[in-house]
Formats: sequence, C-alpha cells, structure tokens
Amino acid sequence: MARLPVVGGNWKMNTNRAEARALLSALRADLDGLTGTQVAICPPAPWLGDAADMLAGSTLDVGAQDVHWEAKGAFTGAYSAPMLAGVASWVIVGHSERRHVFGETSEQTNAKLRAVLAAGLRPILAVGERREETDRVSDILHTQLTEGFAGLDRLPAEVVIAYEPVWAIGTGLAATPEDAQARCALIRSMLAERFDAPSAEACRIQYGGSVTAQNIDGYAKQPDIDGALVGGASLDAVAFGAICRAVAAA
Ligand code: 13P
Repeated sequence: MARLPVVGGNWKMNTNRAEARALLSALRADLDGLTGTQVAICPPAPWLGDAADMLAGSTLDVGAQDVHWEAKGAFTGAYSAPMLAGVASWVIVGHSERRHVFGETSEQTNAKLRAVLAAGLRPILAVGERREETDRVSDILHTQLTEGFAGLDRLPAEVVIAYEPVWAIGTGLAATPEDAQARCALIRSMLAERFDAPSAEACRIQYGGSVTAQNIDGYAKQPDIDGALVGGASLDAVAFGAICRAVAAA
C-alpha cells in the first residue's frame, strides 16, 4: 500500500518574526502545490498565527512543536490542543528535547498525544534512543511506543511517528539510511503487534536527525521511511525545498 510521505520542518526556538515571515513566504512560493508529499511547517508558537495566515489556501500545513495536555486552566506559558485547532493541523509530541531538556515524562507525552487526537489534530509522535541506549534500542522504542500509546485501542490514521535517534539530532551524525530503515521497520512491526497489521502498514514513519538536502535521497528511497522530520535544514528555504522535492520524487 502506498503511503503519502510527510516532511516536517521543526524550526525549534529559532527565527525572529521578520525572519519567520520571510521564510514562510519563501516556502509558500517554492512548495505550494507540490504533490507526492505532505509538508508541515512547525514554527515557534509566537509565529503560529502568522504561519496560519500566510499559508492559508496553500498545500503547506502548519504544525506546533508542543502542546499542553489540558484543554485550559492555570498553566502559565502553556497552550492547548483546542487552542491550536484552526491554527495548526499537526502537533509534534514527545520530541527528545521535550523529554530530555524539559524532563517530559512518557505519561505526559501520552496525555499530549490523546489531547491532540481529541482536538481533531494530527500528532507526530517522536521516539528514539540516546547514544548510551544504542545497545538496547529495541527495548527503548518498545517502551516509548507502549507508553506513548497507552489507553489507545486502535492506531488512528492521523498519527505519524518520527524516529529520531537522539545522538543524530543537531550533530551532523545522521543515521545511515540502512540503519534508519531497519529501525523504522522495527517500529512498524511493533505497531502491528500493539495494534494490527493493516494500521501499522498504513502508518507514516519519518526519519529525523541531521537530515540535509545532500543526504535525504538515501532515506527517501527506503521502503519503511515515509518522509522526514527536519530541524536545522528546515530554517533554510532552499535546503528544505530540496528535501521536500526529493521526498516527493522518491
Ligand atoms: P536536526 O535536523 O537539526 O538534526 O533536528 C532534527 C530534529 O530534532 C527534528 O525534530
């Protein structure tokens, strides 16, 4: 079954407003109408409204980098999935920086995932092992998937998984396409075991970690890799455009 890939641009905590608007405008000019992949632009939260306005009516989607699990209340600095509805259509949950820099627990990741689904948005659940965990990557991925999907009795079609080995993020030390393929296939087999084979087969699984315009082809042609979650290179309109086109053409 053919799966439509998804390329996410995770800007992380980068860009001022003028830079964000210039990047959004360049991305729209370059990528609107591209077929063969979905594209989700995930700017910092303060620019989500600008992104929604500037990408409205285009084929580019807006995504948020994080969310709170509660719908509303006394949570200073946080924003909820119902607030994102109508502004963003994708939300990254469980990114390694949320887990390891901000101390997000798997229970919180799971609550976020469920809040995103309840709001009718599409979660990108990020999983991946740290350098010191590479000898037990299967256990780590199994635990992250089991805990991330706690309480779900089926795998919704809206869910995308991003396999991002933590040691490959922002380091220039990208996983080899063969290793990334093996991990994504492993994740797919775990999804089949946890849910069922058809929904596992239909689920999009991205690779993330030092993806560039130069190395994307290696990932894009792998059978179990359905696009990429791009950090640093997503801040460069030319590089990100080349990545999206390579995925669309694969
Ligand atoms: P880099 O592409 O900068 O390695 O970041 C990957 C990432 O964390 C995307 O979510």
